[in-house]
Amino acid sequence: MTNIEVKTRVKQYQIKIMINSLHHLGTLVTKVWCARQVAVVTDTNVGPYYAKLVTDELTAAGFKVRVMTVPAGEASKSWSQVQSLIDQLSAAHFSRSDGVLALGGGVVGDLAGFVASIYMRGIALIQVPTSLLAQVDSSVGGKTAIDLPTGKNLVGSFYQPDLVVIDPAILVTLPPRMLAEGYGEIVKCAALVGGDFGQSLHQITSVAAILPAAPDLIAASVAFKARVVMADEHEQGQRQLLNFGHTIGHAVELLADGQLMHGEAVAIGLVQVCRLFAAHGLAPTNLTSTLKARLMAVGLPTELPPQAVAAVMQHDKKVHGTALTWVYLSAVGQPHLYPIAVTDLATWMGDLWSVS
Ligand SMILES: NC(=O)c1ccc[n+]([C@@H]2O[C@H](COP(=O)([O-])OP(=O)(O)OC[C@H]3O[C@@H](n4cnc5c(N)ncnc54)[C@H](O)[C@@H]3O)[C@@H](O)[C@H]2O)c1
Repeated sequence: MTNIEVKTRVKQYQIKIMINSLHHLGTLVTKVWCARQVAVVTDTNVGPYYAKLVTDELTAAGFKVRVMTVPAGEASKSWSQVQSLIDQLSAAHFSRSDGVLALGGGVVGDLAGFVASIYMRGIALIQVPTSLLAQVDSSVGGKTAIDLPTGKNLVGSFYQPDLVVIDPAILVTLPPRMLAEGYGEIVKCAALVGGDFGQSLHQITSVAAILPAAPDLIAASVAFKARVVMADEHEQGQRQLLNFGHTIGHAVELLADGQLMHGEAVAIGLVQVCRLFAAHGLAPTNLTSTLKARLMAVGLPTELPPQAVAAVMQHDKKVHGTALTWVYLSAVGQPHLYPIAVTDLATWMGDLWSVS
Protein backbone atom coordinates (compact mmCIF):
# COMPACT_ATOMS: atom_id res chain seq x y z
CA MET A 1 0.00 0.00 0.00
CA THR A 2 1.28 3.46 -0.91
CA ASN A 3 0.22 6.12 1.59
CA ILE A 4 0.39 9.75 0.59
CA GLU A 5 -0.25 12.29 3.33
CA VAL A 6 -1.98 15.53 2.37
CA LYS A 7 -1.81 18.44 4.81
CA THR A 8 -3.80 21.54 3.98
CA ARG A 9 -4.69 24.47 6.22
CA VAL A 10 -8.11 22.98 6.93
CA LYS A 11 -7.44 19.25 6.92
CA GLN A 12 -4.89 16.46 7.02
CA TYR A 13 -5.81 13.19 5.28
CA GLN A 14 -4.36 10.19 3.50
CA ILE A 15 -4.52 8.94 -0.06
CA LYS A 16 -4.22 5.15 -0.05
CA ILE A 17 -3.19 3.43 -3.27
CA MET A 18 -3.35 -0.36 -3.35
CA ILE A 19 -4.46 -3.12 -5.70
CA ASN A 20 -7.77 -4.53 -4.32
CA SER A 21 -8.09 -1.78 -1.70
CA LEU A 22 -11.84 -1.79 -2.43
CA HIS A 23 -11.95 -5.22 -0.74
CA HIS A 24 -10.64 -3.56 2.44
CA LEU A 25 -12.77 -0.42 2.22
CA GLY A 26 -14.69 -1.09 5.44
CA THR A 27 -11.51 -1.31 7.48
CA LEU A 28 -10.01 1.75 5.79
CA VAL A 29 -13.12 3.86 6.36
CA THR A 30 -13.45 2.90 10.05
CA LYS A 31 -10.01 4.44 10.57
CA VAL A 32 -11.43 7.89 9.74
CA TRP A 33 -15.19 7.66 10.35
CA CYS A 34 -17.16 6.36 13.33
CA ALA A 35 -20.49 4.57 12.65
CA ARG A 36 -22.84 6.72 10.60
CA GLN A 37 -25.10 6.86 7.56
CA VAL A 38 -23.12 6.89 4.33
CA ALA A 39 -24.49 8.02 0.95
CA VAL A 40 -22.56 6.15 -1.74
CA VAL A 41 -22.92 8.37 -4.80
CA THR A 42 -22.14 6.53 -8.01
CA ASP A 43 -23.18 6.49 -11.67
CA THR A 44 -25.05 4.09 -13.93
CA ASN A 45 -21.83 2.57 -15.34
CA VAL A 46 -19.78 2.22 -12.16
CA GLY A 47 -22.60 1.24 -9.81
CA PRO A 48 -23.37 -2.14 -11.42
CA TYR A 49 -19.69 -3.15 -11.10
CA TYR A 50 -18.73 -1.90 -7.65
CA ALA A 51 -21.66 -0.53 -5.60
CA LYS A 52 -22.48 -3.96 -4.08
CA LEU A 53 -18.88 -4.60 -3.02
CA VAL A 54 -18.66 -1.12 -1.48
CA THR A 55 -22.05 -1.49 0.23
CA ASP A 56 -21.12 -4.93 1.64
CA GLU A 57 -17.75 -3.68 2.88
CA LEU A 58 -19.25 -0.61 4.59
CA THR A 59 -22.23 -2.49 6.02
CA ALA A 60 -19.97 -5.19 7.49
CA ALA A 61 -17.96 -2.38 9.11
CA GLY A 62 -21.08 -1.01 10.81
CA PHE A 63 -22.18 1.78 8.45
CA LYS A 64 -25.73 2.31 7.25
CA VAL A 65 -25.44 2.65 3.49
CA ARG A 66 -27.67 4.27 0.87
CA VAL A 67 -26.62 4.09 -2.76
CA MET A 68 -27.56 7.15 -4.85
CA THR A 69 -27.04 6.69 -8.58
CA VAL A 70 -26.79 9.46 -11.18
CA PRO A 71 -26.72 8.98 -14.96
CA ALA A 72 -23.16 8.44 -16.25
CA GLY A 73 -21.72 11.42 -18.11
CA GLU A 74 -20.76 15.06 -17.80
CA ALA A 75 -24.43 16.17 -17.97
CA SER A 76 -24.81 14.97 -14.37
CA LYS A 77 -22.61 17.83 -13.14
CA SER A 78 -25.78 19.95 -13.00
CA TRP A 79 -27.98 21.87 -10.58
CA SER A 80 -30.75 19.31 -11.15
CA GLN A 81 -28.52 16.45 -9.92
CA VAL A 82 -27.34 18.56 -6.98
CA GLN A 83 -30.97 19.19 -6.08
CA SER A 84 -31.89 15.51 -6.47
CA LEU A 85 -29.00 14.31 -4.27
CA ILE A 86 -29.70 16.94 -1.61
CA ASP A 87 -33.39 15.96 -1.60
CA GLN A 88 -32.39 12.30 -1.12
CA LEU A 89 -29.98 13.16 1.72
CA SER A 90 -32.62 15.28 3.42
CA ALA A 91 -35.39 12.67 2.96
CA ALA A 92 -33.09 10.07 4.55
CA HIS A 93 -32.44 12.46 7.47
CA PHE A 94 -28.70 12.77 6.83
CA SER A 95 -27.20 15.01 9.51
CA ARG A 96 -23.87 16.78 9.84
CA SER A 97 -22.42 13.65 11.46
CA ASP A 98 -23.13 11.48 8.39
CA GLY A 99 -21.07 11.26 5.22
CA VAL A 100 -20.88 11.08 1.41
CA LEU A 101 -18.66 8.59 -0.40
CA ALA A 102 -18.05 9.36 -4.07
CA LEU A 103 -17.64 6.13 -6.06
CA GLY A 104 -16.96 6.99 -9.68
CA GLY A 105 -14.96 8.99 -12.16
CA GLY A 106 -14.33 12.73 -12.13
CA VAL A 107 -17.98 13.52 -12.77
CA VAL A 108 -19.20 11.71 -9.65
CA GLY A 109 -16.24 13.01 -7.61
CA ASP A 110 -16.91 16.63 -8.59
CA LEU A 111 -20.69 16.36 -8.14
CA ALA A 112 -20.72 14.38 -4.88
CA GLY A 113 -17.90 16.53 -3.50
CA PHE A 114 -19.86 19.70 -4.27
CA VAL A 115 -23.01 18.28 -2.67
CA ALA A 116 -21.05 17.24 0.43
CA SER A 117 -19.58 20.73 0.65
CA ILE A 118 -22.95 22.52 0.71
CA TYR A 119 -25.38 20.08 2.38
CA MET A 120 -25.87 21.40 5.94
CA ARG A 121 -22.88 23.70 5.28
CA GLY A 122 -20.67 20.68 4.69
CA ILE A 123 -20.71 17.00 5.66
CA ALA A 124 -17.86 14.51 5.66
CA LEU A 125 -16.57 13.22 2.31
CA ILE A 126 -14.53 10.25 1.10
CA GLN A 127 -13.37 9.92 -2.50
CA VAL A 128 -13.11 6.50 -4.13
CA PRO A 129 -12.10 7.38 -7.70
CA THR A 130 -12.73 4.70 -10.32
CA SER A 131 -11.44 6.16 -13.60
CA LEU A 132 -7.73 6.67 -14.22
CA LEU A 133 -8.32 10.41 -14.66
CA ALA A 134 -10.05 10.59 -11.29
CA GLN A 135 -7.38 8.44 -9.63
CA VAL A 136 -4.50 10.62 -10.79
CA ASP A 137 -6.16 14.00 -10.91
CA SER A 138 -9.68 14.93 -9.91
CA SER A 139 -9.83 13.09 -6.55
CA VAL A 140 -6.69 14.87 -5.34
CA GLY A 141 -6.72 18.53 -4.44
CA GLY A 142 -10.19 19.21 -3.11
CA LYS A 143 -11.74 20.96 -6.11
CA THR A 144 -15.44 20.22 -6.61
CA ALA A 145 -17.68 21.60 -9.31
CA ILE A 146 -20.75 21.46 -11.49
CA ASP A 147 -21.21 22.95 -14.96
CA LEU A 148 -23.41 25.78 -16.20
CA PRO A 149 -24.77 26.15 -19.75
CA THR A 150 -22.17 28.92 -20.18
CA GLY A 151 -19.17 26.74 -19.26
CA LYS A 152 -17.67 23.84 -17.35
CA ASN A 153 -16.89 23.90 -13.63
CA LEU A 154 -18.25 27.40 -13.15
CA VAL A 155 -19.86 26.64 -9.76
CA GLY A 156 -17.93 24.79 -7.10
CA SER A 157 -15.91 24.81 -3.94
CA PHE A 158 -12.61 23.78 -2.43
CA TYR A 159 -13.55 20.89 -0.14
CA GLN A 160 -11.05 18.37 1.12
CA PRO A 161 -12.09 14.76 1.79
CA ASP A 162 -11.29 12.74 4.94
CA LEU A 163 -9.75 9.95 2.86
CA VAL A 164 -9.06 8.96 -0.75
CA VAL A 165 -8.96 5.23 -1.56
CA ILE A 166 -7.48 4.31 -4.95
CA ASP A 167 -7.77 0.76 -6.26
CA PRO A 168 -5.92 0.42 -9.59
CA ALA A 169 -7.45 -3.08 -10.06
CA ILE A 170 -10.86 -1.60 -10.86
CA LEU A 171 -9.45 0.10 -13.94
CA VAL A 172 -9.88 -3.28 -15.64
CA THR A 173 -13.51 -2.41 -16.43
CA LEU A 174 -12.70 1.09 -17.68
CA PRO A 175 -13.11 1.41 -21.48
CA PRO A 176 -9.73 1.79 -23.28
CA ARG A 177 -10.58 5.30 -24.51
CA MET A 178 -10.98 6.45 -20.90
CA LEU A 179 -7.84 4.64 -19.81
CA ALA A 180 -5.90 6.53 -22.48
CA GLU A 181 -7.58 9.78 -21.41
CA GLY A 182 -6.35 9.37 -17.84
CA TYR A 183 -2.91 8.46 -19.09
CA GLY A 184 -2.75 11.87 -20.80
CA GLU A 185 -2.86 13.41 -17.33
CA ILE A 186 0.02 11.16 -16.26
CA VAL A 187 2.05 12.36 -19.25
CA LYS A 188 1.37 15.93 -18.13
CA CYS A 189 2.57 15.23 -14.58
CA ALA A 190 5.64 13.35 -15.81
CA ALA A 191 6.56 16.27 -18.08
CA LEU A 192 6.25 18.68 -15.16
CA VAL A 193 8.26 16.44 -12.82
CA GLY A 194 10.87 14.96 -15.17
CA GLY A 195 13.50 12.61 -13.70
CA ASP A 196 12.69 8.91 -13.24
CA PHE A 197 8.97 9.56 -13.54
CA GLY A 198 9.50 11.11 -16.97
CA GLN A 199 11.75 8.24 -18.04
CA SER A 200 9.28 5.57 -16.87
CA LEU A 201 6.83 6.51 -19.61
CA HIS A 202 9.11 5.01 -22.28
CA GLN A 203 7.64 1.61 -21.39
CA ILE A 204 4.08 2.70 -22.26
CA THR A 205 3.87 1.88 -25.95
CA SER A 206 0.16 0.98 -26.08
CA VAL A 207 -3.03 1.27 -24.03
CA ALA A 208 -2.53 -2.33 -22.89
CA ALA A 209 0.76 -1.35 -21.24
CA ILE A 210 -0.99 1.14 -18.94
CA LEU A 211 -2.73 -1.31 -16.60
CA PRO A 212 0.29 -3.24 -15.33
CA ALA A 213 2.18 0.03 -14.77
CA ALA A 214 -0.84 1.82 -13.26
CA PRO A 215 -0.03 1.48 -9.52
CA ASP A 216 3.39 3.10 -9.91
CA LEU A 217 2.24 5.73 -12.37
CA ILE A 218 -0.72 6.67 -10.15
CA ALA A 219 1.50 6.87 -7.06
CA ALA A 220 4.00 9.15 -8.83
CA SER A 221 1.27 11.42 -10.24
CA VAL A 222 -0.64 11.66 -6.96
CA ALA A 223 2.53 12.35 -4.96
CA PHE A 224 3.34 15.21 -7.31
CA LYS A 225 -0.17 16.65 -7.30
CA ALA A 226 -0.41 16.37 -3.50
CA ARG A 227 2.89 18.24 -3.15
CA VAL A 228 1.67 21.06 -5.36
CA VAL A 229 -1.72 21.26 -3.65
CA MET A 230 -0.13 21.39 -0.21
CA ALA A 231 2.00 24.32 -1.30
CA ASP A 232 -0.90 26.22 -2.88
CA GLU A 233 -4.34 24.91 -1.93
CA HIS A 234 -6.35 27.67 -3.59
CA GLU A 235 -4.44 28.00 -6.87
CA GLN A 236 -2.90 31.37 -6.23
CA GLY A 237 0.60 30.40 -7.30
CA GLN A 238 2.39 27.14 -8.09
CA ARG A 239 -0.84 25.12 -8.40
CA GLN A 240 -1.38 26.93 -11.68
CA LEU A 241 1.44 24.76 -13.08
CA LEU A 242 -1.07 21.89 -13.09
CA ASN A 243 -2.89 23.82 -15.82
CA PHE A 244 -0.12 22.86 -18.26
CA GLY A 245 -1.94 22.04 -21.50
CA HIS A 246 -5.29 23.17 -20.11
CA THR A 247 -5.38 26.69 -21.52
CA ILE A 248 -5.67 25.43 -25.08
CA GLY A 249 -7.26 22.18 -23.85
CA HIS A 250 -10.30 23.90 -22.36
CA ALA A 251 -10.89 25.84 -25.55
CA VAL A 252 -10.51 22.70 -27.69
CA GLU A 253 -12.93 20.85 -25.42
CA LEU A 254 -15.52 23.60 -25.78
CA LEU A 255 -15.15 23.73 -29.55
CA ALA A 256 -15.37 19.94 -29.84
CA ASP A 257 -18.83 20.17 -28.25
CA GLY A 258 -18.76 16.77 -26.58
CA GLN A 259 -16.84 14.95 -29.32
CA LEU A 260 -13.58 15.02 -27.34
CA MET A 261 -13.14 13.94 -23.73
CA HIS A 262 -11.43 16.31 -21.29
CA GLY A 263 -8.13 14.38 -21.31
CA GLU A 264 -8.15 14.15 -25.10
CA ALA A 265 -8.55 17.91 -25.37
CA VAL A 266 -5.76 18.39 -22.83
CA ALA A 267 -3.51 16.03 -24.86
CA ILE A 268 -3.96 18.37 -27.82
CA GLY A 269 -3.35 21.32 -25.49
CA LEU A 270 -0.08 19.84 -24.19
CA VAL A 271 1.41 19.38 -27.64
CA GLN A 272 0.14 22.69 -28.97
CA VAL A 273 1.39 24.75 -26.04
CA CYS A 274 4.85 23.23 -26.47
CA ARG A 275 4.69 24.07 -30.18
CA LEU A 276 3.53 27.60 -29.44
CA PHE A 277 6.32 28.31 -26.96
CA ALA A 278 8.88 26.67 -29.21
CA ALA A 279 7.75 29.02 -31.97
CA HIS A 280 8.38 31.91 -29.59
CA GLY A 281 11.83 30.53 -28.75
CA LEU A 282 10.97 29.77 -25.11
CA ALA A 283 10.78 25.95 -25.31
CA PRO A 284 13.04 23.44 -27.09
CA THR A 285 11.52 22.13 -30.33
CA ASN A 286 12.16 18.46 -29.47
CA LEU A 287 9.82 18.74 -26.46
CA THR A 288 6.84 18.91 -28.82
CA SER A 289 7.80 15.66 -30.57
CA THR A 290 8.64 13.91 -27.29
CA LEU A 291 5.26 14.67 -25.75
CA LYS A 292 3.49 13.92 -29.00
CA ALA A 293 5.11 10.47 -29.18
CA ARG A 294 4.08 9.63 -25.58
CA LEU A 295 0.48 10.65 -26.19
CA MET A 296 0.17 9.05 -29.63
CA ALA A 297 1.50 5.75 -28.23
CA VAL A 298 -1.89 5.29 -26.54
CA GLY A 299 -3.90 6.79 -29.40
CA LEU A 300 -4.52 10.23 -27.91
CA PRO A 301 -5.15 13.09 -30.36
CA THR A 302 -2.49 15.79 -30.54
CA GLU A 303 -3.53 18.05 -33.41
CA LEU A 304 -5.69 21.11 -33.18
CA PRO A 305 -8.97 21.46 -35.11
CA PRO A 306 -8.56 24.55 -37.32
CA GLN A 307 -10.86 26.87 -35.40
CA ALA A 308 -10.62 30.17 -33.66
CA VAL A 309 -9.27 28.89 -30.34
CA ALA A 310 -7.91 32.27 -29.30
CA ALA A 311 -11.37 33.82 -29.43
CA VAL A 312 -12.81 31.12 -27.18
CA MET A 313 -9.97 31.48 -24.72
CA GLN A 314 -10.83 35.10 -24.10
CA HIS A 315 -13.80 33.70 -22.19
CA ASP A 316 -11.79 31.14 -20.24
CA LYS A 317 -12.44 31.49 -16.53
CA LYS A 318 -8.71 31.51 -15.93
CA VAL A 319 -8.54 34.96 -17.55
CA HIS A 320 -7.77 37.00 -14.47
CA GLY A 321 -8.37 40.65 -15.18
CA THR A 322 -6.38 41.56 -18.23
CA ALA A 323 -3.95 38.63 -18.55
CA LEU A 324 -4.12 34.87 -19.10
CA THR A 325 -1.47 32.78 -17.38
CA TRP A 326 0.07 30.04 -19.54
CA VAL A 327 2.27 27.18 -18.40
CA TYR A 328 5.23 26.17 -20.53
CA LEU A 329 8.32 24.00 -20.07
CA SER A 330 11.82 25.25 -20.85
CA ALA A 331 12.81 21.56 -20.49
CA VAL A 332 11.21 18.40 -19.11
CA GLY A 333 10.79 19.00 -15.36
CA GLN A 334 11.18 22.79 -15.68
CA PRO A 335 7.76 24.43 -15.82
CA HIS A 336 7.12 28.18 -15.81
CA LEU A 337 4.12 30.48 -15.55
CA TYR A 338 3.81 33.02 -18.36
CA PRO A 339 1.10 35.70 -18.30
CA ILE A 340 0.00 37.12 -21.63
CA ALA A 341 -2.19 40.22 -21.93
CA VAL A 342 -5.62 39.35 -23.28
CA THR A 343 -5.23 42.09 -25.87
CA ASP A 344 -2.10 40.32 -27.23
CA LEU A 345 -3.65 36.85 -27.21
CA ALA A 346 -4.85 36.64 -30.80
CA THR A 347 -1.46 37.77 -32.14
CA TRP A 348 0.38 35.41 -29.79
CA MET A 349 -1.83 32.49 -30.74
CA GLY A 350 -1.71 33.43 -34.42
CA ASP A 351 1.85 32.13 -34.52
CA LEU A 352 0.54 28.65 -33.75
CA TRP A 353 -1.08 28.20 -37.15
CA SER A 354 2.08 29.02 -39.05
CA VAL A 355 4.22 26.44 -37.21
CA SER A 356 3.88 22.84 -38.35
N1 LIG B 1 -11.83 18.29 -9.46
C1 LIG B 1 -10.75 18.31 -10.22
O1 LIG B 1 -9.66 18.71 -9.78
C2 LIG B 1 -10.84 17.78 -11.62
C3 LIG B 1 -9.68 17.58 -12.36
C4 LIG B 1 -9.77 17.05 -13.64
C5 LIG B 1 -11.03 16.74 -14.16
N2 LIG B 1 -12.14 16.95 -13.43
C6 LIG B 1 -13.47 16.61 -13.96
O2 LIG B 1 -13.53 15.20 -14.10
C7 LIG B 1 -14.46 14.89 -15.14
C8 LIG B 1 -13.83 13.87 -16.05
O3 LIG B 1 -13.51 12.73 -15.30
P1 LIG B 1 -13.64 11.27 -15.91
O4 LIG B 1 -12.89 11.19 -17.17
O5 LIG B 1 -13.37 10.31 -14.83
O6 LIG B 1 -15.17 11.24 -16.36
P2 LIG B 1 -16.39 10.34 -15.91
O7 LIG B 1 -16.63 10.45 -14.47
O8 LIG B 1 -17.51 10.70 -16.83
O9 LIG B 1 -15.88 8.87 -16.19
C9 LIG B 1 -15.66 8.47 -17.53
C10 LIG B 1 -16.56 7.28 -17.89
O10 LIG B 1 -15.99 6.10 -17.32
C11 LIG B 1 -16.98 5.42 -16.55
N3 LIG B 1 -16.22 4.76 -15.50
C12 LIG B 1 -15.52 5.34 -14.50
N4 LIG B 1 -14.84 4.42 -13.80
C13 LIG B 1 -15.11 3.21 -14.36
C14 LIG B 1 -14.69 1.88 -14.12
N5 LIG B 1 -13.78 1.58 -13.16
N6 LIG B 1 -15.20 0.89 -14.88
C15 LIG B 1 -16.07 1.18 -15.88
N7 LIG B 1 -16.49 2.43 -16.20
C16 LIG B 1 -16.01 3.43 -15.44
C17 LIG B 1 -17.95 6.49 -16.13
O11 LIG B 1 -19.21 5.94 -15.83
C18 LIG B 1 -17.99 7.37 -17.36
O12 LIG B 1 -18.85 6.83 -18.32
C19 LIG B 1 -14.80 16.18 -15.81
O13 LIG B 1 -16.06 16.61 -15.39
C20 LIG B 1 -13.74 17.15 -15.33
O14 LIG B 1 -14.19 18.49 -15.28
C21 LIG B 1 -12.08 17.47 -12.17
